Amino acid sequence: MSETDLKKVNVSLPGSIDLNRSYDIHIGSGLLGSCASLISPLLKRPFVAIVTDENVAKTHLESLTQTLDGAGITHVTKIMPPGEASKSFTGLEALVHWLLDNKVERQDIVIALGGGVIGDLTGFAAATLRRGVRFTQIPTTLLAQVDSSVGGKTGINVPQGKNLVGAFHQPSLVLADLDVLQTLPDREFRAGYAEIVKYAAICDRPFFDWLEDNLDALNNRNNDALSFAIAKSCQTKADIVAQDEKEHGARALLNLGHTFAHAYENLTGYSDNLLHGEAVGLGIAQAVQLSDHLGICPEADAQALVKHLAKAGLPVSQADVKGGPFKATDLVNAMAQDKKVSQGVMTFILMKAIGEAFITNDVSATQLTAFLQNQG
Ligand code: NAD
Ligand code: GLY
Repeated sequence: MSETDLKKVNVSLPGSIDLNRSYDIHIGSGLLGSCASLISPLLKRPFVAIVTDENVAKTHLESLTQTLDGAGITHVTKIMPPGEASKSFTGLEALVHWLLDNKVERQDIVIALGGGVIGDLTGFAAATLRRGVRFTQIPTTLLAQVDSSVGGKTGINVPQGKNLVGAFHQPSLVLADLDVLQTLPDREFRAGYAEIVKYAAICDRPFFDWLEDNLDALNNRNNDALSFAIAKSCQTKADIVAQDEKEHGARALLNLGHTFAHAYENLTGYSDNLLHGEAVGLGIAQAVQLSDHLGICPEADAQALVKHLAKAGLPVSQADVKGGPFKATDLVNAMAQDKKVSQGVMTFILMKAIGEAFITNDVSATQLTAFLQNQG
């Protein structure tokens, strides 16, 4: 892929006279090796703090540090253990102490080089350090390139649930290098794919049809196919975030499948039994099946979406999950901890058809329990 194939998506946000909050997402091959020219204009002094995890450090850190060295940008690096456990108060404490020990200043840039765990943790540390420093996302998983690096949701997990402590803090720049996806384990790649299907299911039937036609190319990690799917996903997310940055309305659509997903993640103990993206795949399958069960969505659309998710290697029923099936009452209890619960009423994202998702508070606990009791 040549330089001319680089794609750029802008996230347009209201700023102030002294602060431009809009930022670009660059998508393309070779970005790690050429990113200094994009990072340099953000710097007040030639210094960055990099946060990554052990797996990404082994495979991609050197490309980044060489690029920075070549541009005369000095750097320090914090390498966190991989996995959700780092997205915790313990991980945050270690990171914040390290940033302060390295005298990271208010005007500096912190770089999150990694998947959603590193992005969410680093973003939250940046949001709170010295009451807010800027940060740049260099997402290295498919999930992070199409979702978690964009839109400014940052945070950590607590024993009561995932992402329950956090802040909205937008990055200053996002660099999605397609090449880094080549080292991603297949299971992680499939998990990230669920978030791509999510955008098609929410608002873009033609994109769903494109995904049907291009699933093999994507699975083979063809850069042209990846570039199109990642840019399309980022554009959809950017449009929704521009309308509703703090999730007072339309942004909740991005949680399609997540009420189910968070409950399954909770019941599987946030363990390797079910990755976040896998839980989202299962959650999308259940959201469309619930929509069909309630007579809102044509059965043909529900079947087509579930079939596509299954073909992509994602779990589509409880039987596909280690430790499943689960009791309907346990699932409903876990769902009650969802961030979208308001005055005790759960919010669901349902579908009138593929590409036509909507937000509703009209699913009763009885309807939900009856649906879940029917699920294998
Ligand atoms: P992750 O960050 O744990 O990465 C998955 C695994 O892949 C890790 O072991 C990591 O070390 C490894 N890895 C990362 N890049 C690699 C590469 N290029 N090659 C080889 N290995 C690599 O998981 P994730 O799926 O990226 O992110 C999940 C997290 O994202 C969850 O905590 C979820 O809550 C969060 N999330 C946040 C948002 C948001 O809007 N902020 C959206 C979706 C998900
Ligand atoms: N991942 C959902 C959101 O960013 O709103």
